[in-house]
Amino acid sequence: MSETEFRIGVLGSGTGSNFVAIAEACASGTIPASIALVLSDVAEAGIIDRARERGLPARYLAPGKFRTRLEEEAESQYAAALVTAGVDLVVPAGFMRVLKSPFLSAFEGRIVNIHPSLLPAFPGLEAWKQAWAYGVKVTGCTVHFVDSGVDSGAIIGQQTVPVLDDDTPQTLHQRIHGAEHELYPKCVAAIAAGKLQVAGRRVAIGTKAVA
Ligand code: GRF
Repeated sequence: MSETEFRIGVLGSGTGSNFVAIAEACASGTIPASIALVLSDVAEAGIIDRARERGLPARYLAPGKFRTRLEEEAESQYAAALVTAGVDLVVPAGFMRVLKSPFLSAFEGRIVNIHPSLLPAFPGLEAWKQAWAYGVKVTGCTVHFVDSGVDSGAIIGQQTVPVLDDDTPQTLHQRIHGAEHELYPKCVAAIAAGKLQVAGRRVAIGTKAVA
């Protein structure tokens, strides 16, 4: 690994299918970066196995006593591990805890996330179920910067997915997952390649500055 290489740190709590899409894009060179570290708050999470199968460093870090966020000391340990690994960009991939300070300040403007709806519609948990129950005809997924709110950071990219009449929440979720595996690597590749133009909430992928 060269010293100038862009380094990604991944956080995950689950199966890690988005992680796999990103790891494969790094391995093939589609994302000009390497995965420096994978951290999980769930000891038996599939994402740890998926990383180790690929020879990537992965470990469980105890999250502390809360259910939806990291305890402050744990949060400092997560941030320290990523700093030590020389991480340039933090990429949560199905990480089921809200990140707070000191983590946010340690990686300000350098944390992205993927959410399974077209934000700002349906933030929060089980967004595909919310979209299905609401009856929208089009939904999708969103890659966005992480700020101190819930799914509220500036939007980097979105991909639409149709909602079919015979969809169940599960079939819709599956289709959204497929779109995530395309969109997340594409957005991370643009960031790693230095192709993002940011002007407040307005973000563009490309060489033209955002108005
Ligand atoms: C994805 O649906 C993503 O939108 C959400 O968590 C899920 C993670 O799935 N943030 P996976 O672990 O990447 O398969």
